[in-house]
Amino acid sequence: MIIAIDGHSSCGKSSFAKQIADELDILYIDSGAMYRAATLYCFENDIIHAGKLNVDELVQSLDKINIEFRKVQYSAKQHVFLNDKDVEGEIRSLTVSSMVSEVSVVPELRHRLVEIQRNYGDNQSVVMEGRDIGSVVFPNAEIKIFLTASPEVRAHRRFDELIAKGENVSFDEILENLMHRDKIDQSRETSPLVQSSDAVLLDNSNLTPEDQMIWFRDLIKKVKK
Ligand code: DC
Repeated sequence: MIIAIDGHSSCGKSSFAKQIADELDILYIDSGAMYRAATLYCFENDIIHAGKLNVDELVQSLDKINIEFRKVQYSAKQHVFLNDKDVEGEIRSLTVSSMVSEVSVVPELRHRLVEIQRNYGDNQSVVMEGRDIGSVVFPNAEIKIFLTASPEVRAHRRFDELIAKGENVSFDEILENLMHRDKIDQSRETSPLVQSSDAVLLDNSNLTPEDQMIWFRDLIKKVKK
């Protein structure tokens, strides 16, 4: 079974997908982590310089960017590896977040990452979350969910998360970054963030994680009928 979860930035797709994966005991893939890892590569190799992405250089470097998920002993979650290095922590910084949408618009990069994502759905059940999972990566997914929440609720959740990690950020900066990413994700030419006509919408602004799972169990019952 393929479960596709798409939606806006910071609306809790990862936590929701992880809950589902744990409950059904299936693989969980965070496709955004792959775009974040590619962005980190750009920062580390001067492909992003003074806030500007060199698209040609990124395209020429694609063969040198190896991104994969691996099970690690120290975490229940699969971690994303960039050229054999665990970058699961580094990719969540505001620096990476500030440029990831610009990197994600590059069609050649998307093409390459979509191929890897599809391989994870070969012969095994997976819950994958991102922006184009139901529309492009797995158009035939059995379950498609479009998750959202109000921008303020999303910014608060992200702010709390980064503050808990000790990052020095302001709420306004987070809200601005989130709205900027939404805008680029929704308006880009290749695989924009859209709600597929066969996706079920869930606004979790006022839902607890447990409420969300109750909603999901109900959905899966209907799909299996
Ligand atoms: O889910 P996230 O916020 O970690 O994703 C980071 C960025 O990656 C997001 O701003 C857009 C991009 N992304 C994408 O273009 N397609 C996906 N399937 C997943 C993420």
